[in-house]
Amino acid sequence: MPAHTFHSAAAPLTGRIRVPGDKSISHRALMLAGLAVGRSTIAGLLEGEDVLATAAAMRAMGAAVEREADGTWVVDGAGLGSLIEPAGALDMGNSGTSTRLLMGLVASHGITATFTGDASLSRRPMERVITPLARMGAAITASPGGTLPLMIRGALPAVPIAYRLPVASAQVKSAVLLTGLNTPGITRVIEPVPTRDHTERMLAGFGVKLEIGEEDGATVIGVHGEAELAPLDVTVPGDPSSAAFFMVAATLVPGSDLTIANVGINPTRAGLIEALRMMGADIAEENPREVGGEPVADLRVRHAVLRGAGIDPALAPAMIDEFPALFVAAAMAEGTTTTCGLEELRVKESDRLAAMAAALDLAGARVEERGDGLVIHGTGGEPLAGTPEGARVATRLDHRIAMSMAIAGLASRSGVAIDDTAPIATSFPDFTALLEQAASPAPSSPDLRSETLP
Ligand code: S3P
Repeated sequence: MPAHTFHSAAAPLTGRIRVPGDKSISHRALMLAGLAVGRSTIAGLLEGEDVLATAAAMRAMGAAVEREADGTWVVDGAGLGSLIEPAGALDMGNSGTSTRLLMGLVASHGITATFTGDASLSRRPMERVITPLARMGAAITASPGGTLPLMIRGALPAVPIAYRLPVASAQVKSAVLLTGLNTPGITRVIEPVPTRDHTERMLAGFGVKLEIGEEDGATVIGVHGEAELAPLDVTVPGDPSSAAFFMVAATLVPGSDLTIANVGINPTRAGLIEALRMMGADIAEENPREVGGEPVADLRVRHAVLRGAGIDPALAPAMIDEFPALFVAAAMAEGTTTTCGLEELRVKESDRLAAMAAALDLAGARVEERGDGLVIHGTGGEPLAGTPEGARVATRLDHRIAMSMAIAGLASRSGVAIDDTAPIATSFPDFTALLEQAASPAPSSPDLRSETLP
């Protein structure tokens, strides 16, 4: 467990940085390319442990997945319907997205696969995926409580269903749609609350026929089964969930003026920008454009003192992974920030409400934990005290807790010590180096500040 202390910023965050590729989009690109007939390429793939787990699983099921020397990934698809049975268990590491989406792929192929994961993933609920996939015909045996390790035997043919999402989850939506790909007829997902739509966008990119409509205020997504996926050259935009830490850091550290280039601003992911702006943040979207079927911009973030706010729970799905970072921002705002409707945060890589309440409390913030959110009384722009000597924040196998508390350290008087930086590699291997680069005293000529490529 590599412990690390993140010290208060030596200088404002300035210059121009790039964050690595979007994790959600990277998983989907590998999976769909692996189902296509022919050769796809993926530029800007996130090379974090979670995505590498997906790459290994697709290889184990018959796709040829290779990284070229220039960083492009090349995938020769196995072809939909032609996935082969993996020889051993599929180790999903820390990755809930890999597990739930790949279960969807297996569910309509005539193969059996076993999924295992680390201690964090092995506690997370899989029942939400098991229920619809079993309804489509898959036979699934899970560990007690509907957890990993689990074994799934796909149905051939699977049965198309119309499934109304009981939780706002893009992973459940995607698992059902992916099962629908190799299922006769049309499989439908009814989504009362919009969640990230990367699966839908990328399915269309690979040539799959989708029907997207509305019914009583809910979105209905239908996928035509027995599809043929044509290969595609995908470019993955920068991950807004990774940019979030730098958006908050630049907002909190006085004098900062940081541009984060090439960040995905898909409206189903952009809730943090809206929430921070509501609190008084100065975030400009420059050079808006489209990359790989997704809206992208360069985000210019300048320091601002934030005001506490009530965060509308309707924003939650569009910033579900960004709450740990938002809590850090709230800890230094003027007044009180209230969040609610966040029960889902308790079943992420850790219980993020409990983990962040404990971590921020240790770092000197005033936090109240409620059943479905945190109430945070900010310092009014004063730095947090930092962790007491010898005390270390528990990151609980959760990359986003580790990175959020790193930012809290940057904005603290005496630094924040965290117990384990290893989980950061699941989504953002170069995080610490990039943070040090952005917050180091500027070189004499701004032109010398190079863009850090992932
Ligand atoms: C993801 C969906 C979200 C998110 C996760 C990635 C995805 O999970 O928290 O990090 O790529 O579909 P839920 O579907 O559980 O909300």
